[in-house]
Amino acid sequence: MHDWDIVEENIVGKNIADKNIVVTGGTTGIGRATVEALARRGARVIFTARSAGAGDEVVAGIHATHPDAQVSHRSCHLDDLASVREFADGLRRDLDRLDVLINNAGVSLTERRRTVDGHEYTFGVNHLAHFLLVEELRELLVESAPARIIAVASDAHRLGGPLDFDDLMAERAKFGVVGGMKVYGRSKLANILHTRELARSLDSTGVTANSLHPGFVRTRLARDSEATMLGERLVWPLIGRFARSPEQGASTSIHLACAAAVADVTGAYFADEKVMKPNSNATDDAAAKRLWEASLELMA
Ligand SMILES: NC(=O)c1ccc[n+]([C@@H]2O[C@H](COP(=O)([O-])OP(=O)(O)OC[C@H]3O[C@@H](n4cnc5c(N)ncnc54)[C@H](OP(=O)(O)O)[C@@H]3O)[C@@H](O)[C@H]2O)c1
Repeated sequence: MHDWDIVEENIVGKNIADKNIVVTGGTTGIGRATVEALARRGARVIFTARSAGAGDEVVAGIHATHPDAQVSHRSCHLDDLASVREFADGLRRDLDRLDVLINNAGVSLTERRRTVDGHEYTFGVNHLAHFLLVEELRELLVESAPARIIAVASDAHRLGGPLDFDDLMAERAKFGVVGGMKVYGRSKLANILHTRELARSLDSTGVTANSLHPGFVRTRLARDSEATMLGERLVWPLIGRFARSPEQGASTSIHLACAAAVADVTGAYFADEKVMKPNSNATDDAAAKRLWEASLELMA
């Protein structure tokens, strides 16, 4: 079966026509496959792209086979909180409703970098920017209920241990291939904890929040890191054959965005379209609350 057939099969019978769906990081990988699948089935999709050329290419690719698809891109740099606020301002201005927000964009690094706001880059892009985006869009989502918020987290949340609230900026982290993976893992743990607390804060609003693991997917997630060349030349040829395609990797995001079966499920962690149990660090409600407060402080 072709990968697209898997995606198509996944969506058939699900009512997404005319839903307004926003996806962060729609230019490549899982995000691109998610955008393409949802737009091909009639949703109105807005995705973020840092490069207008990359965004245009995705839109042109969809229009080549589906000329009526309602898909567009907007600029949003998740390493710059002012850019996140500007993106959210535009959405509030232009959309009368927002049915689904998919926080998909992510990065994995082998070296320390900082965002424009001075935060450690992995935590800043993967967690803080999405935390801010949700808060900026909270009112619109609640007014649009029933609505869904989806966080593309990862089973890598198991790799970095619990969140270290004395070192959220990873000042003491070693980075490199192993250390960088732990920093990435903690940012994905933050995605799951954030989603749990978010679900609680949205209780009785009709807005659900769930996180997911897309599987091990053949993308270029670590392309921004200094070890990319090493990874692409040595590691991918060895392990790449075990990876899923981006289209297969998009399947749980699409399920959470569309399936009637999950309309009332909230605060859960999914993989392969099923609820899964995350690591115990990711079910620590005290840590989830503490992360929320720390994120607000870092945003101030
Ligand atoms: N691949 C896997 O095996 C795997 C496994 C578990 C979880 N995940 C998660 O899946 C999600 C998607 O990753 P992927 O594997 O599809 O990787 P990808 O192909 O590298 O796509 C990442 C997307 O995020 C965007 N992005 C990165 N940094 C950004 C920034 N500073 N500001 C705005 N956008 C930014 C990229 O946009 P640009 O084109 O502008 O760079 C791109 O569209 C991530 O959250 C990742 O953690 C992936």
